[in-house]
Amino acid sequence: MKKIAIIFGTRPDTIKLAPIIKALQKEKKLFKVITIATSQHRAMLDQVLDVFSIKPDYDLNIMKKRQTLAEITKNIIVNLDKVLEKESPDMVIVQGDTSTTCIGALAAFYRKIPVCHAEAGLRTDNIYNPFPEEMNRRLTSVITALHLPPTDLSALALKKEHIPASKIFVTGNTVIDALKFVVKNNYKFAQSEISNFLKRKGKHVLLTMHRRENLGLPMTAACLAIKRLANEFPQHSFIFPVHLNPAVRDVVYPILGNLENILLIEPLKYSDFSNLLSRMNFIITDSGGVQEEGPSLGKPVLVLRETTERPEAIKFGTAKLVGLNEEKIYRNAKKLFTDQEFYNKMAKSVNPYGDGKAAERTVYAIKKYFGIKSNVISEFKPKKSK
Ligand code: UD1
Ligand code: UDP
Repeated sequence: MKKIAIIFGTRPDTIKLAPIIKALQKEKKLFKVITIATSQHRAMLDQVLDVFSIKPDYDLNIMKKRQTLAEITKNIIVNLDKVLEKESPDMVIVQGDTSTTCIGALAAFYRKIPVCHAEAGLRTDNIYNPFPEEMNRRLTSVITALHLPPTDLSALALKKEHIPASKIFVTGNTVIDALKFVVKNNYKFAQSEISNFLKRKGKHVLLTMHRRENLGLPMTAACLAIKRLANEFPQHSFIFPVHLNPAVRDVVYPILGNLENILLIEPLKYSDFSNLLSRMNFIITDSGGVQEEGPSLGKPVLVLRETTERPEAIKFGTAKLVGLNEEKIYRNAKKLFTDQEFYNKMAKSVNPYGDGKAAERTVYAIKKYFGIKSNVISEFKPKKSK
């Protein structure tokens, strides 16, 4: 019996670890699963835990309003160390690129516990963009014993950093497993604000923004572009679940707060958000996870970033980098509203990121790591798009 500690704490790492938690918990004879929430996020984490019915064994409860990176780091490492000392797991699993990921890996390293990194190998090669995520991923990779990149491209990035192929297994991204778990054709939205929004005539666009490097002027430019679009296309509507970071809200509410065809709402629980995504015409976002979910649902994604560590959907043509330039965002969104050919070219359902079996492959890779015999499962390969 191997004891596996799974560390999570923000909205995206928890959504993406939920399928792995469930899959490992099914293997009762082989694994004892310990779930540790740093709670770097609070309300946005609790929403996810609720949807997936996860009750963490430990809750470090570290979130404070407007917390700095240094405070997050300090509070996670000190509190996590106590849990790792007490539990002494055989492996720690972290996911992605948040502070919880990187500091979780570091805390495990200090106790000489091997680390398994899900969603490994994403790179922009610019340590300040996304900030601090690119560095979080790189530092995590140096510590990691078992690397689980979602795609061949992310596996290649790891090999370029001299990580041996024997320590790498391509799983696909568990966000697609999570998406398949919650998206339903006949999904009913409990909030009347959402069902009323969907009843509005015209096209529907979903927005999200939260990246640290976009706070302030870049985010202001993006909001001004949306305002211009909302004024020019009153027949179409925008829905924007606004991240709880006060630095995001300080920018978004003054610019977009009083427009008839823009609905600003609180962050949505994952089942509402992903079912809403599946009903949109297109998406404008700076999110990592939403860049993966949009293409899977056949939705064009305009990416509010200067660079992306998720180039696969850009290559397939479903996502387009539009940066934080007001004019460029405005022009591309306008084209999606008005140019059907341009829209159709982008609205292809492609799945470069996963096939819903990433958690199964993760469990297989962990068994292999510990020398546990099991049926062979092959690495993830995306289906060719037509
Ligand atoms: C964090 C991650 C980022 C990820 C994002 C997903 C780091 C450094 N950043 O960024 O990689 O893309 O989560 O959303 O790990 N807040 C609340 N309630 C919540 C959550 C946040 O009030 O439930 C507020 C707090 O004031 C907090 C602020 O948002 O200080 C920022 O949270 P923080 O975790 O520092 O960074 P995010 O921008 O959320
Ligand atoms: N998401 C959600 N509710 C929302 C907005 C996003 O559940 O109101 C989900 C979304 O489906 C995706 C994840 O949160 O799976 C992305 O999180 P976020 O954009 O905060 O972080 P990132 O992926 O950029 O790290």
